[in-house]
Amino acid sequence: MPAATGDFIYLDHAATTPVDPDVLAVMLPYFTDRFGNPSSFYHQGQESRAALDHARSQAARVLECNPGEIVFTSGATESDNLALRGVAWGARLARRGISPRPHIVTTEIEHHAVLHTAFALERQGFSLSFVQADRQGIVDPGAVAAALRPETCLVSVMYANNESGAIQPLRDIAAIARERGILFHTDAVQAAGMATLHVDDLGVDLLSLSAHKFYGPKGVGLLYVRQGTVVDFHQQGGGQEQGRRGGTENVPGIVGLGAALDRADDQMFDYRRHCATLRDRLWSGILKSVPHVTVNGPLVPELRLPNNLNLSISGVEGETMLLSLDMHGVAASTGSACTTGSTEPSHVLRAMGLSDDACRSALRFTVGRGNTEAQIDATIDAIVESVARARSLAPTTV
Ligand SMILES: Cc1ncc(COP(=O)(O)O)c(C=O)c1O
Repeated sequence: MPAATGDFIYLDHAATTPVDPDVLAVMLPYFTDRFGNPSSFYHQGQESRAALDHARSQAARVLECNPGEIVFTSGATESDNLALRGVAWGARLARRGISPRPHIVTTEIEHHAVLHTAFALERQGFSLSFVQADRQGIVDPGAVAAALRPETCLVSVMYANNESGAIQPLRDIAAIARERGILFHTDAVQAAGMATLHVDDLGVDLLSLSAHKFYGPKGVGLLYVRQGTVVDFHQQGGGQEQGRRGGTENVPGIVGLGAALDRADDQMFDYRRHCATLRDRLWSGILKSVPHVTVNGPLVPELRLPNNLNLSISGVEGETMLLSLDMHGVAASTGSACTTGSTEPSHVLRAMGLSDDACRSALRFTVGRGNTEAQIDATIDAIVESVARARSLAPTTV
């Protein structure tokens, strides 16, 4: 068994990231000493309110927006739900039941937080169109334009895909939506810390983020909502978040989100370089030593997240590889963490036109801050050994 540096080698940063110790240190007092409710009038409450304001300013700096345009949520699943449901219901209520039904355009490669929300809206009487991605996992802006209708109220296209790593032509798609006066939402979860999130430059009206994808805590995220956007904010309560999301705020989590996003943005250049170096080392090591491997997703570096390597190893089930790699101390994924445990092939890879076999043999490695070249080399050894073993047990399909 190849030596792993440290206890285990974590190569699943698209699923989640560890909390940065500096971020944790900033959060900790808000669990204990500074526990005041931000809605309380007295000093302790105002201390928590100031912490929320600071985190909102940090996020606004990174997104180049007004702090008032940030709504803190429990993560990107809630943000995506809020964006789609909020805009769809906002449009429906504004039309007061006049037909035709508001229409949403999204893509086949979205995260389930968007896809399943869109299906739920369809059951509530909204209409949907799904745009396909090409073989590399890239959405054609022309196809988005072709899907628009006079009654389209929202276009939602993710910034970068969590499985293929494909970075979408967001500005072009956003410009098409804007030209037609249609709102544009992006799930930017995987792009945070990797690409600019400047909302005006991107041309987005709504944008979702989740803190645990950029070395912040789990269970906290945000939705950017451009000022003036008609959204039906459905979570009613004590009027928090300027009446847009009722419920006492997750103060330590929000403090962590602000600090983590601030750091991720400051360190983006070095982080991208670090990740690309390790990812390319992993890929060339596998290419050299493992026959019959294909990369899924874009081959052009500019079109792919620098930390992502998704590949299909012919004749070897992804799940078998995961188990074997786990025994070698390597944590990877077959795709989206949320669908692990399901025997269905990835909807993303399928939408890209991969065969069922290629989908079933897919493996995703996503490198991150803590990884080293020694870990990558140990991973390559573990992959070589695991593939050889799997192929020796089922030698027919290669
Ligand atoms: C692209 C994308 N969108 C949304 C989510 C959901 O994020 P969360 O589980 O933090 O709500 C994820 C998480 O894997 C994701 O990768």
